[in-house]
Amino acid sequence: MQRTPVGKMLLFGATGDLAQRMLLPSLYGLHADKLLPDDLTIFGAARTDYDDAAYKKFAKKALDQFLPADRKNDDAIASFLDRLSYQSTDLSDPASYQPLAEKIGDVAGGLAIYLSTAPSLFEAAVKGLEAVGLAGETVRIGLEKPLGYDLASSQEINDTVALGFSEERTFRIDHYLGKETVQNILALRFGNSFFEPVWNARGIDNVQITIAETVGLEERAGYYDTAGALRDMVANHILQLLAMVAMEPPASFDGTAVRDEKAKVFRSLRLMKPEDVPHNTVTGQYGPGAVDGKIVKSYLDELGNPSTTETFVAIKAHVDNWRWQGVPFYLRTGKRMTARRSEIAIQFKPVPHSMFSGRGGVLQPNVLVIRLQPEEYVQMLVMAKEPGLDREGIRLREVPLNLSLDSEFKGPRRIAYERLLLDLIEGDQTLFVRRDEVEAQWRFVDAIREGWKANDTKPRSYPSGSWGPSAAVALTERDGVTWQDD
Ligand code: BG6
Repeated sequence: MQRTPVGKMLLFGATGDLAQRMLLPSLYGLHADKLLPDDLTIFGAARTDYDDAAYKKFAKKALDQFLPADRKNDDAIASFLDRLSYQSTDLSDPASYQPLAEKIGDVAGGLAIYLSTAPSLFEAAVKGLEAVGLAGETVRIGLEKPLGYDLASSQEINDTVALGFSEERTFRIDHYLGKETVQNILALRFGNSFFEPVWNARGIDNVQITIAETVGLEERAGYYDTAGALRDMVANHILQLLAMVAMEPPASFDGTAVRDEKAKVFRSLRLMKPEDVPHNTVTGQYGPGAVDGKIVKSYLDELGNPSTTETFVAIKAHVDNWRWQGVPFYLRTGKRMTARRSEIAIQFKPVPHSMFSGRGGVLQPNVLVIRLQPEEYVQMLVMAKEPGLDREGIRLREVPLNLSLDSEFKGPRRIAYERLLLDLIEGDQTLFVRRDEVEAQWRFVDAIREGWKANDTKPRSYPSGSWGPSAAVALTERDGVTWQDD
């Protein structure tokens, strides 16, 4: 596809946490590797009253703090800072936009805007940008989540954005799509021929997707307590992973073909009826406990007030189409869990008949494990003969066939945002989320929330440092399935 790089970039929220930890280090990484257009200028905008020099100082401090040592290079940092300038801007104040437009100047050579701000400001931002000519045909916009808290609010945001930016110029960010290992799912599935014949309900027994985190609320109480695990992680990252596993082979690796196939998966997700929700979902909230050897407080103690927000959710989902009929997709995510781990485990069907029964032990079904983080590997668990002279037959054991991406591909790992910022700057939408995908994701999530409301479901407490409430174990065990927890 034709990539059309822009000449200018505007970062709203330029002094925020995301800018410091991710966006500035990522832009620097692209700069240092000479991937940015030579003449790209980057304008920071936020409420803080900085001038250009003060913002450069701020950015330098962020890079010092958040760049890994092996990525730091004084010359590259100095030339990166040369690209930056700053305009103090209050998105809620219509008078703020004219000075911003003057600072940015001509946008005929293309402008990429990155909007990482509260959704309540989206409308003011789009209108303000439009009024001063910063929303025309040469301007594209990247949007950070949360894009609403249910279908209705997300549609409202999408409608508002559409007033200034057509879908082809709107780049909705799900940072999981920028992760190497997430893109690697596509490489594994569609770059190899041997998975496809068994990649369906005949070959696969169940799919498990886990995103477990050890962190708690962090400094995000205001947002997190109104969101909860279902909106924060399932409505986007987990469902995107599910789509990567479940989608039909796209005809080509481009924005339309890939997103068409993902959207079909989202539209095939079975919407739960309120009466089905209690059997197919488990919610939890972390209590006190120990994580990584440290004593940690409960969610309520961190928050400082009562709350029924879930910090853990497990779901048994179904994709109602021919390929996946009858295959459960077990999804779970939680904060303050035993370990940080994002992983997809695909469990294949058992062999139709075991010739070893009674003479070699129990056969375990094959499992394909795709570990996304903290390590990056793909592992196929297979049965093998244990060496030895056993008179009772041959002794079998499950062993991993290992592909370690960490050791196979040396070199620095890129931040997910580097990929996404580069694609935003160059105009490739393949790894961004289209409107119909977001809305179908919300339909699935809203049905679950409706069920919780109808059944007055409250999260169960689970100790920090565990794998969540025991009911989450029961969710799979009822079907004779065990979570892949090693
Ligand atoms: C964000 C969520 O989208 O993803 C956070 O809002 C979560 O709550 C984060 O911690 C996890 O991202 P990663 O890349 O660390 O797995």
